[in-house]
Amino acid sequence: MLELNHLHSISKNLFNQIHNMSANSPQKLSSEFTNPNLEVLLTEDQIRERVKELGAQITAEYANGDVVLVGILKGSCVFMADLMRAVDLRMTIDFMAVSSYKDGTESSGDVEILKDLSNPIRGKDVIVVEDIIDTGHTLARLLDILGTRGANSVKLAAFLDKPEPRVRKEVKIDYCGFVIPNHFVVGYGLDAAGRYRNLPFIARIKNPAEA
Ligand code: IMP
Ligand code: MG
Repeated sequence: MLELNHLHSISKNLFNQIHNMSANSPQKLSSEFTNPNLEVLLTEDQIRERVKELGAQITAEYANGDVVLVGILKGSCVFMADLMRAVDLRMTIDFMAVSSYKDGTESSGDVEILKDLSNPIRGKDVIVVEDIIDTGHTLARLLDILGTRGANSVKLAAFLDKPEPRVRKEVKIDYCGFVIPNHFVVGYGLDAAGRYRNLPFIARIKNPAEA
């Protein structure tokens, strides 16, 4: 009888240990893709389809062009990687990194070039690839800068367009992925304080205080 009780307590201990292990399992805690604080707004499938369409449009419109896709780091990195594989043309890529000075929560329009293009764009058909246009200040300034460098043409591909901010600079988006409501969104390259760029979908943060 004593032995049975002993066995019972050992198995109970083991059960508790295994239960605790799985409750604290790092795999469970570390899933960013199923984070309950995120509400998916655009799924991977929707994004894949739309980016393919944009790529096909660019392919058709630049048949005789000398195309260079210019990705704006870091936010455009995922869109850029997908878009370039949907453009069936002889072309090159380049990157720029800019920082826009924020005046409170809105960008002020002053743009500092943190990383410039590696190659000249004189005579090229430039397509600037950006993650999202909000106030448009950053891109308006950037397009001005690129406009002085002798490109044959400069157009803009933006994955997202948030057209309802309080202030909106006139920016023509030639290739737009999706128009979204005025939420702060993350994923598919877009971040909140550096986080969430790796999400394969676009999501809204339900409770920013919990993020
Ligand atoms: P704009 O000068 O206001 O158009 O600023 C655009 C930049 O702000 C984008 O390139 C993003 O880096 C950032 N941004 C604006 N809205 C969002 C958002 O909803 N999520 C993440 N980043 C955003
Ligand atoms: Mg950005």
